[in-house]
Parts: sequence; C-alpha cells; structure tokens
Amino acid sequence: MEFSIKSGSPEKQRTGCVVVGVFDGRKLSASAQAIDGASRHYLSEVLRRGDLDGKLGATLLLHSVPQIPADRVLLVGLGRERDFNEAAYRTALAAATRALRSTGASEATICLTDLALKRRDTAWKIEQAVIMVSEGAYRFDRMKSKPPEAKRALRKVTLHVAKRGEIAEGETAMERGQAIADGMAFAKDLGNLPANVCTPAYLAEQAQDMGRRNGIKVEVLEQKDIEKLGMGCFLAVARGSRQPPKLIVLEYQGGKRDAPPVALVGKGITFDTGGISIKPAAEMDEMKFDMCGAASVLGTMKAIAQMKLPLNVVGVIPATENMPGGNAIKPGDIVTTMSGQTVEILNTDAEGRLILCDALTYVEKFKPSAVVDIATLTGAIVIALGHVATGLFANSDPLARELLQAGEAAWDRAWHMPLWDDYQEALKSNFADIPNIGSRAGGSVTAACFLSRFTKAYPWAHLDIAGTAWKSGAEKGATGRPVALLSHFLVRRAA
Ligand code: BES
Ligand code: MN
Ligand code: ZN
Repeated sequence: MEFSIKSGSPEKQRTGCVVVGVFDGRKLSASAQAIDGASRHYLSEVLRRGDLDGKLGATLLLHSVPQIPADRVLLVGLGRERDFNEAAYRTALAAATRALRSTGASEATICLTDLALKRRDTAWKIEQAVIMVSEGAYRFDRMKSKPPEAKRALRKVTLHVAKRGEIAEGETAMERGQAIADGMAFAKDLGNLPANVCTPAYLAEQAQDMGRRNGIKVEVLEQKDIEKLGMGCFLAVARGSRQPPKLIVLEYQGGKRDAPPVALVGKGITFDTGGISIKPAAEMDEMKFDMCGAASVLGTMKAIAQMKLPLNVVGVIPATENMPGGNAIKPGDIVTTMSGQTVEILNTDAEGRLILCDALTYVEKFKPSAVVDIATLTGAIVIALGHVATGLFANSDPLARELLQAGEAAWDRAWHMPLWDDYQEALKSNFADIPNIGSRAGGSVTAACFLSRFTKAYPWAHLDIAGTAWKSGAEKGATGRPVALLSHFLVRRAA
C-alpha cells in the first residue's frame, strides 16, 4: 500500500473515493461539510432521509455526487461526538477500509485523520491510520490453491490533515506507521503459516533473508553449537522432535559501535503439542501460533531497520517443536540449564520457560542495557487479561513504565502484573534446584518467576502474549502484536 499526506479541499479530490465522517448519523465533520457545500447539500439530503445508521462504523457509499470530481464518496458513522475516542477512531478507520475494499476503487482519500481527538496529535492519528488501513488490507491466502478472486485492490491512500502545517509531522508519522505495519504483516505471515511449513529451519531462513534485505547480521546456531553452550533445557524440549532446533541470533547496529544493546528474546515453539504431558485435541491447531513471540522479534527488527533507528538491538530466538516421542523428555526428568541451575521438568507442556531460560542466560554475553522477552507463555494470562492487554512482568520498575507507556503510545497495550517474592514460594522441587511449574493459581506469575531466576544480570521485562498474539474463531489469525509496542519502546530508547 502506498500512502501520502495532503491538506486542503476534500471536495476537489480527483480520486476513486473520498471518505468522510458523520457524527450521530447527521452531524457532518468539517470535511463532510466541505463536500456537502460543493454538492449543493447532497449529503445533508441523503442524511435527512435517514440512510446512514447513526452507529459507529456504519458506512454508506454514494456514487456520482453532484459537482464532486471523486468517483465515490464514502460516509462513515463516527458515533456520538463526545464519545469519539481512540477506540472509536480506530473502529471508524477499520470500517472505512472494509467498505473501500468492497468497491472497485484503487485510490482513496481518507478524511478521518483530520478529525479532532482528545489527547492525541496528528502524528498519532496518521500512524494509527496507516496501521489500520494496512491491517484491513492484509490477507493470508498463500496456502490456498487459487487466490480468491479480488476486486481491483486498493493501492494508494491519501490521508487528509486539517492544516498545511501538519504535513511534515504527518509524513514522519506515516513512515513510522508503514515500518510498523510492514513488521506486523511479516510477524502475521510467520504466525499464520502452518507448522509443517514454519519449522525452526524455516524461521531461521526467514530471519536470514530478512536480515540480508535490511542490513541486520544474522547467525544461526545449530544443535551441536547449542550443545557446546550447555543449553540443557532448550535441548531437552527439542529431543522429542524430528526437526532440529535452531538458535537464531540477530544483531542490528544502528547506534555507536560499543553502545550496549537492547536484547529481545522471542519464544519460537513452532508447534506445541505439550510433549508427553500432551494437550487435549480441541483447538490444538492454534499451537502453531506458539512462535508468535519469535515472529514479533523478527517483525520489530524489520521495522526498526526500516526506520534506521540509531540504536543497537539484539534479537535471540530459540526455535524448536515441542513433541512427544520415544526420545522426548518425561515428567520428572532433571536437566541442567546453561546457567548451571538444575530444573525438574514436572510438566513437559511448560516448555516455553525451558527454552527461554537458556536464551536469557545466553544474552548476558551482549551486556545488554535491557532485555525484553516475548512469549505465548501461559493459558493463565488469557484467563487474567483476556485478549485485550498483554501481561507485563519486570524486575525493573523504570523498564516496566517504559514498556507500558510505549504500549499506550502505540495503542498496543500491556498491563503490569506482580512479580513479588511471595510468588517465588511456589517454585520448590524435592530433587532439583527448581521445578518448571509452580501452583496452578497465578500460573502466569509463577511462570514469570521461573524466568526471573535467569535474569538477575540486567534490567528485564517479560511480555506474556498468549492472549494477544492471535485471534480464535471466525477471525482466526495472528495479530502482529506486540510489534507496535516494541517498536515504540525502541523509538523512545533511540531518542
Ligand atoms: N503455549 C502454551 C501457552 C498457551 C496455552 C497459550 C493456551 C495460549 C493458549 C504453553 O506452552 C503452555 O502449554 N503452558 C501451560 C503451562 C502449564 C503446563 C503450567 C498452560 O498455560 O497451560
Ligand atoms: Mn506448552
Ligand atoms: Zn507453548
């Protein structure tokens, strides 16, 4: 998708479709008024007949509006003016994109970015619009034998701002939005691919290919390298699989040569059967999404390289399947981590923390200024926060605040969960240093506690994205979260 920013006369746009907003089903926005005036109150006439539902996200497509050079005018319901907030703005944009797709327009001018929004500036509105329109245009049909017949696809979108003076600011935000949207689409593609295609080796190839195109150094460590490093826990999970594990290491050098990097560590379980502690059959297909943490690392690194952020960032991805089999780990097995601590594996389905703990020890070698891991770690976080907020845990309050604020700015929000010592009590083993599971109560907290045993050397945060990385049901698919949050976090770090 190609974007541009423009100010001035919506009524003079020569394009496939001009999109304007209407509050409450009758109050015209400023851009809608301009079109109404030029068309001798054609819009007012249509609205008087009650054809546009007053609801937020309702749409009405008009053809051949008198005196207007655009082929079409799309009216979008904005709901009540005083309720018009961030969520409403995004809903309106999503509805507009959906309606645009069902027209034959290949170009459109969207005059929703010129609406006033409390607490949000032009930059925010433009970035969000680029992301929402790109998301609306996203399709994953590469596994279909015939791509579904498409109408002429929307190719060019102009975003309208109220004043000339907003164009420069808008263009910067547009570029950031595009980098984030591209990173999200990359993460979604990887997440949506089935596990027979998206194996650890495939993830490694994709990382290498993305790295080559974006000037990021990528190294892939093989089974024997992982053995040499002593990553006993990571290897324990990989034992049950025919697919060899990969440790993918990416280095983006945008900052000074010796400036300490930020490290992103992503869970890359390309399929989680649960192993010997096997999962029930229902919805097990969704465990192909268990590498969405890894995908978000790759998507974020692509985005920041596209933005040319002046910052050093390292990405580390332990990638493997979690399978049952004759060689698989068994409940009760005890393995030694790279850190030297021993772990009693009481449940082979708590495998994410087993691969992450070794990766978290590995990143110490980069002397990172901060480490953030991203993982579809626990079903318990879905119970706690649903599909809205990502769970955030941290051993550093300033780092937690940075990430929370980045999530607010990106509208890809997280919620701070406790990591108090009281919860560490749950991690007691009769036979090893620690068990890989704690109590069922507070399951996402005890999982984070397990990780915290390996992150004492640096400020660290953990994002549990089990509820936010993908959608189930009719809209099943990866969301690309939390690429936007992480990108904003790094943008702020680079500033
Ligand atoms: N990948 C799952 C977490 C998950 C489960 C995400 C369901 C989304 C939906 C993880 O590896 C896992 O299986 N966690 C277990 C941990 C338990 C055995 C302590 C869980 O959450 O049930
Ligand atoms: Mn599991
Ligand atoms: Zn898992």
